[in-house]
Amino acid sequence: MSERLVVVSNRVAVPRSLRPAPGGLAVGVLEALRQTGGIWVGWNGKVAKGTEGPTVEVQQQDDIEYLTLSMSQADYEDYYLGFANRVLWPLFHLRLNLVQYRRRYLEAYRRFNESLALQVERVLRPDDLLWVHDYHLIPVARNLRKAGCRNRIGFFLHIPFPAFDVFRAIPHHTFILRLFLEYDLIGFQTGLDRDSFLDSLQRVFPECVVSPHEVVHDGRRISIGVFPIGVDVDTAIEEAAKGRASTQGRRLQANLMDRRLIIGVDRLDYSKGLAERFQAYEQFLAHFPRHAEDIVYMQIAQPSRSDVPEYQVIRDEVDYLAGKINGRYAAHDRVPLRYLCRSFSRTTILGFLSLARVGLVTPLRDGMNLVAKEFVAVQDPDDPGVLILSRLAGAAEELEGAVKVTPYNIDGVADAIALAVDMPLGERRERWQQMMQGVRHNTIADWTRGFLAALRHARAPAASTVAAGGTADPVPG
Ligand code: G6P
Repeated sequence: MSERLVVVSNRVAVPRSLRPAPGGLAVGVLEALRQTGGIWVGWNGKVAKGTEGPTVEVQQQDDIEYLTLSMSQADYEDYYLGFANRVLWPLFHLRLNLVQYRRRYLEAYRRFNESLALQVERVLRPDDLLWVHDYHLIPVARNLRKAGCRNRIGFFLHIPFPAFDVFRAIPHHTFILRLFLEYDLIGFQTGLDRDSFLDSLQRVFPECVVSPHEVVHDGRRISIGVFPIGVDVDTAIEEAAKGRASTQGRRLQANLMDRRLIIGVDRLDYSKGLAERFQAYEQFLAHFPRHAEDIVYMQIAQPSRSDVPEYQVIRDEVDYLAGKINGRYAAHDRVPLRYLCRSFSRTTILGFLSLARVGLVTPLRDGMNLVAKEFVAVQDPDDPGVLILSRLAGAAEELEGAVKVTPYNIDGVADAIALAVDMPLGERRERWQQMMQGVRHNTIADWTRGFLAALRHARAPAASTVAAGGTADPVPG
């Protein structure tokens, strides 16, 4: 029987879904699934009403089966909003003050992961290659191993891994760390994330033998790798051209006239540094008031996780700052900040990015940030824009030609905006060429290929190291 790929992720890009068009990750996963055929398992985005149990939906398109589950209201609140997005997300993004730990969140995290693993178990064949994604689903391998699964299982963490001093701040961090040790390959976005992970491992399990490429624990060898995610450059360029030619693209161009466009595109998330970015823009306008006439800053902030209270707080803060800036610097016939709290199609966004003179990507912490790479991919080679990029985004390791900033440094970001809007063409070209080379060199297809090749080379677990028959996990108290 030939090898199949089974992908497990919280979100699944089901065909004909009403969600915005899939981003980089979905494109990469779909491409890999098309090559080998396979199954994509995850949440279908629905929350079951009242006491209704979760429902399973199966869709087939070409050689790919989409197996998705709904979530109970309790799992939505305690697993998705709770443990995933009020504990792991802020913790891994270094926002300890925003972590809201509740014991029931961890219980729901374990429960939902068990139901998902059960679905995987039902369809799994012995030769399948398994690829689990992101912080929502760290326990999947543990659950499968308990059921005797000996397949190769890889895990990729899309978000940063924090330093041990931060990681240890949640109860049961030892339990979480142990779950990683059931994988055959663990992938990170950057060398820094890998090093933080290995450091935590060594401190918590001193018996682990650790090297940058491998961990040996309890007789098992676990491969470790760095796989920075990339973008599909040629498709992005094609889509950007369509976006520019669309009604929205043409209207934006007509309306800009000869004003230069600064653009930001983010999920409305506190990790993206929108409040600090708005303050920096305000300071830039205060120091260079003439630019209120010839610059337009358009910030697209796609609403996200709006049932999480911390996301409501950041939205209020950003709304307030946008009003304050326009209140002070708008004139009867122009506004210096266009703040759009809504989603656009991917094509439109790529079109908008390609029209901008400056891309503002200043997260307070980010695993990679594909908007930075997309901005580079869609620039006009003859007249490219400038990328202002946070040092705390994974993409900063690769994009040397960006104007790098520390996002907490409001003065520094304001100065960087001034530098970028007036940067001479020669320097813009030089910086862009350097970045474009990197973006082309490591595309989304390279990312998928690289991870799967490493997974195929990883050692499958020996029968003796798989806890068949459901060994009880120590229950965190
Ligand atoms: C980040 C995470 C993804 C997640 C996405 C959107 O990029 O790494 O795993 O899917 O945010 O967040 P959401 O909560 O809407 O799935």
